[in-house]
Amino acid sequence: MSIKITDKLGRPLRDLRLSVTDRCNFRCRYCMPPEIFDKNFQFLPKNEVLTLEEMAYITKLFVKAASIKKVRITGGEPLMRQNVSHLIALIREIEAIEDIAMTTNGSLLPKYAKELKENGLDRVTISLDCLDDEKFRYINGRDISVNTVLEGIKAAKKAGLHVKINMVVKRGMNDKDILPMAHYFKETGIVLRFIEYMDVGNSNGWKLDHVVSKKEILSIINEELPLEEVEPHYDGEVATRYKYKDNENEIGIISSVTDTFCSTCSRIRLSAEGKLVTCLFSNSGHDIRDMLRSGASDNDLINRIVNIWNARDDKYSEERLYNTDKQKIKKIEMSHIGG
Ligand code: GTP
Ligand code: 5AD
Ligand code: SF4
Ligand code: SF4
Repeated sequence: MSIKITDKLGRPLRDLRLSVTDRCNFRCRYCMPPEIFDKNFQFLPKNEVLTLEEMAYITKLFVKAASIKKVRITGGEPLMRQNVSHLIALIREIEAIEDIAMTTNGSLLPKYAKELKENGLDRVTISLDCLDDEKFRYINGRDISVNTVLEGIKAAKKAGLHVKINMVVKRGMNDKDILPMAHYFKETGIVLRFIEYMDVGNSNGWKLDHVVSKKEILSIINEELPLEEVEPHYDGEVATRYKYKDNENEIGIISSVTDTFCSTCSRIRLSAEGKLVTCLFSNSGHDIRDMLRSGASDNDLINRIVNIWNARDDKYSEERLYNTDKQKIKKIEMSHIGG
């Protein structure tokens, strides 16, 4: 039986994103600026973080509550969580789940790609913001080379994982790298997605001027590498897809600032400490961990999930530009809910 629950704006719940840790071995300046996420920063204590078994259990509840078919594992950096492959294996056992993906910075894939694939992971989305080594070492705040990520991409492909690349575009940071990245990935057949820089969290000093719009990104690429738009793969796909006119390869643009997609947003996020977050820009989440740990029945937990989704009316990205007060609200950090 397929259960369809909807929120206050009629949007179904389709996609569960599990953040398995709030820690990361990178300090990307637009996500975890090193001055703020320094050695004194208090990450979640271990006992507050859901166990892998608890996460798999909650995933099963989502299948029962809303017929979820798609799960994405995020972080922080998900491969910093010990034995994350075990979680993949537990989720793979859930028959209804058709697609398991992971968003990662790629640095630990040479070590884990094979094991992840063997445990049932289908896809990885790897973040890479430029191919200029000096610039990349600066952006990631930890002096990590481009080659480290390229090796991760290679390992993922070798293991048989489907690979996409995410590039966050920030004016003055890597707008000059749009074309070199497009050229490089056009030849490899890997889909590269350009993400408009967003005001997630409270630490990255976001300004509208920093955003390179979808229109600008398209025109930069189109001038040299002509593109045509392609139909979405599925309802609510966040990236608008384009293909090169002279080959079958594609790019995507995720325009969460200048061409928003809240009206079809069907994603819910579970933070590492067990909070359900209904929008990337929420100021808090709805706790489910304490209820689970105090022995609530499956029915009670499913009702809680359904009630949270039914009460949802988030559309932050639509409101951001005309209601600037919204931008001042304290928001959950991206490293807590994994993008
Ligand atoms: P596919 O299943 O491959 O289509 O994945 P996806 O595009 O849903 O996932 P991914 O996590 O790779 O999304 C890419 C980026 O888009 C994220 O890291 C976020 O930066 C942004 N993004 C994804 N979902 C949302 C959303 O619901 N709202 C906003 N504002 N941004 C989002
Ligand atoms: N704006 C847009 N995308 C971001 N990401 C992290 N911070 C931001 C931001 N401020 C992206 C990462 C990664 C995914 C988890 O989210 O690059 O691809
Ligand atoms: Fe960078 Fe991703 Fe780590 Fe954030 S979570 S610092 S975007 S690698
Ligand atoms: Fe969904 Fe919130 Fe992003 Fe809009 S801003 S697409 S509601 S997560």
